[in-house]
Amino acid sequence: MSIISIKNVSKNYGQKKVLDSVSLEIEKGEIFGLLGSNGAGKSTITKIILGLEKPTSGNIVYYEGRQINIKEKLTLVPQDIAAYKNFSVEKNLEFFASISGLSGDLKKNKINFLLNWLNLNEFRKTKTSFLSGGYQRLLNIAISLISDPEIIFLDEPTVGLDPLMRKMFWDKIKELRNQGKTIILTTHYMDEAQNLCTKIALLKKGKLLTIGKPIDLIREYGGIKVTVLKLTSMILDDDLPKIRAAINNRNVIVRDKYLFVPVEQEHGFEKIVALTQWLISRGYSIDYSTTKEPDLEDVFLQLTGEKMKTDN
Ligand SMILES: Nc1ncnc2c1ncn2[C@@H]1O[C@H](COP(=O)(O)OP(=O)(O)OP(=O)(O)O)[C@@H](O)[C@H]1O
Ligand SMILES: [Mg+2]
Repeated sequence: MSIISIKNVSKNYGQKKVLDSVSLEIEKGEIFGLLGSNGAGKSTITKIILGLEKPTSGNIVYYEGRQINIKEKLTLVPQDIAAYKNFSVEKNLEFFASISGLSGDLKKNKINFLLNWLNLNEFRKTKTSFLSGGYQRLLNIAISLISDPEIIFLDEPTVGLDPLMRKMFWDKIKELRNQGKTIILTTHYMDEAQNLCTKIALLKKGKLLTIGKPIDLIREYGGIKVTVLKLTSMILDDDLPKIRAAINNRNVIVRDKYLFVPVEQEHGFEKIVALTQWLISRGYSIDYSTTKEPDLEDVFLQLTGEKMKTDN
C-alpha cells in the first residue's frame, strides 16, 4: 500500500532544473533509499516530500487509508545535530517532548523508553557537547522519535560513524521498520543501501534512473559473478586460447598474472575447478583466487557511469 505518491515532480531553481519529472511510490513499512551522487536531487526531493519546498510542477499525495495530516506523521532526522549542546541529554529530550505537547508520566515514560532503546541511559546527565559524534547522532534520532512519527527521514545517517556504531544504527533502523514505521533515507554508502533498504531509487542530475529492490537491481544491472585467479607467474599469450577452450568460456580475460573468469550460471564452479587443474598441469601455480559477487556498487557504476565515492 502506497503511503506517499510522488507524481511527475519537477523543481527548477531559476533556470536550473534540479528535479525532472520524478515519479515514485513509497509503501508503508519500507526502508526506502534515495541514492545518487552529490547534486542528484536527493535533498531537494526530501524537502518537497516534507513540505519544506514546493515543486515547480507535479504533486505529492499522502495516504493512510484516508489522506493524512503530514505534519503530524513525518519527521526528519537531519545530518546536523538538532540538540542544544549546552543541555544534558535528558534536558534536551524534556525540552523537545514539551514542544511536542507531552507532559507528566507520558513524557517521563517516553523519555525513559528512548534513552534505554538507544543505549543513551548512561549519558542521561551528560552535557550534549561532551558526547561523542556517534552518540550525538543517536540523541538526534531520539529527539526525532519523541513525536511518535509514522514516516522517518534520515539524511545520511551514518556518515562519520565507526563500524560498530554504524551496525547499531542499522539495527535500530530495522527495528523501527519492524515496529511498522516507514523509513526514507539518503546515503552515499552502497553497502548500507544494499544491507538496509527494501527499495532504492537512483537519481542522476534530477532524473530518476531506476527504482527497485536491491536484489532485483543487482540481478538486472550488476553484471555477473567474476572469479579472479592470481598466478605466481605471467600467463603466456599462447595459453589464453587454450584456457578459453579448456573450459569453453570465450570471455576469460588475462592481464599479466591475473585471470578474470566470468562465472556462468551452469557449471560455473566445476569450470573453475577444471581451469585450476589445467593451469597446474601446465606448470602454473595459483597465488590466490577470489570471487566477486555483483553488488549495488556495480549497479551504480553501470547506470550512472560514475564510481560512487565511499569516503564521502
Ligand atoms: N536553494 C537552492 N537554490 C539553487 N540551487 C539549489 C538550491 N538547493 C539545491 N540546489 C541545487 O540543486 C541540485 C540538487 O541539490 P540537492 O541538494 O538536492 O542534491 P543532493 O542529491 O542532496 O546532493 P548531496 O549528495 O550533495 O547532498 C544541486 O545542483 C544544487 O546546487
Ligand atoms: Mg543532500
